[in-house]
Amino acid sequence: MGQDSLFKSAFTHSSIGMALVAPDGKWLDSNASLSKILGYTKEELLSIDFQKLTHPDDLNADLDLLKECLSGKRDSYQIEKRYYHKNGSTIYALLTVSLIREDNTPSFFISQIQDITENKKAQQALVQAAKLATIGEVAGTIAHEVNNPLTIIEGQTSLLRRSLVKKGYDDPKAFAQLSKINNTIGRITSIIQSMKNLSRESSSEKARTCSVSELVEESLALCRHQLKKDQIDVFVDVDKSLCINARPTDFGQSLLNLINNSRHAMKEMPLKQLKITAKEEQGRAMIHIVDTGHGIRPQIASKVMDPFFTTKQRSEGTGIGLSITKKLINRMDGEVKLIKPLNNTTFCIEMPMAYQKSQNIA
Ligand SMILES: Nc1ncnc2c1ncn2[C@@H]1O[C@H](COP(=O)(O)OP(=O)(O)OP(=O)(O)O)[C@@H](O)[C@H]1O
Ligand SMILES: [Mg+2]
Repeated sequence: MGQDSLFKSAFTHSSIGMALVAPDGKWLDSNASLSKILGYTKEELLSIDFQKLTHPDDLNADLDLLKECLSGKRDSYQIEKRYYHKNGSTIYALLTVSLIREDNTPSFFISQIQDITENKKAQQALVQAAKLATIGEVAGTIAHEVNNPLTIIEGQTSLLRRSLVKKGYDDPKAFAQLSKINNTIGRITSIIQSMKNLSRESSSEKARTCSVSELVEESLALCRHQLKKDQIDVFVDVDKSLCINARPTDFGQSLLNLINNSRHAMKEMPLKQLKITAKEEQGRAMIHIVDTGHGIRPQIASKVMDPFFTTKQRSEGTGIGLSITKKLINRMDGEVKLIKPLNNTTFCIEMPMAYQKSQNIA
């Protein structure tokens, strides 16, 4: 085999994506691995330049290095960059480029493209987990620090109410104000509880066998008033015999977070319907929360569970509802997923079943 055909064979059969690229960026030749990485056939690749497939944020760095090669400042370079796959997804790649010169004139580039998307995602997941742990620790400390003074305020308020009653003071306005203070304390307490849940401190509640139907009804009871006020029709279709292994308070809070999001998303909609269904599927309990709200744009669908991601005004949300929900559900060996972002936005909570109780009930 001659040198040329040896090279051709190495190029064609390499498991790394390879391309020959003209000095102006046009692909001259590419191998099957590159087509596999980017989703385009060789013919399609040869009709476009690499600039079109490069993520705009990574283009300049690549072009600058290319220019340095052409000007003779360097012969080769290696960078990490992002390409767009034909299906629109982002591919992370390690790109190695060498310039081939003939008679000292740039002839073509040899580009080697290694798909490192999986590694990148694993790395990002680690960074995200570390961030979450830090946020959790800070939240846990704040929650702890605020809890003590809050208990004092709560205690003093009820003492004040008692002594007013004892002294025969009967101004309704004053008592209404005291009730407002109490309600606000309640709100702060629940925010603190949420922050504690976000922290790594594990809830002391033990997991036990719970009826999904009861859990759903308990959560709905807590927000029925709000749902009615917002004129939302609620439909419940839960298999009565379905039991899960869960921490009831944590599960209830998770459900409330999802219901509250649905409630908010339906505020301006003409049709306001919330549907909660639950049934067994392949040995797992599947609880679906469906709403007729404005939906979630595909561009943000992957971010909604990130801590502090919100599209709401500062006064309307902090963006921790879904991240807490995910954390609480994962801690019970369950999973929460956004399974339909638009047109009947659907979240699914998947939980381990509790067989014993369900058999007893049946
Ligand atoms: N059912 C839904 N319909 C439409 N958008 C939703 C729905 N659920 C979540 N979202 C989107 O996901 C974002 C994040 O939700 P998350 O519950 O984590 O925070 P939040 O509701 O904004 O604030 P918080 O829950 O802390 O009050 C929301 O701001 C909203 O854009
Ligand atoms: Mg929320």
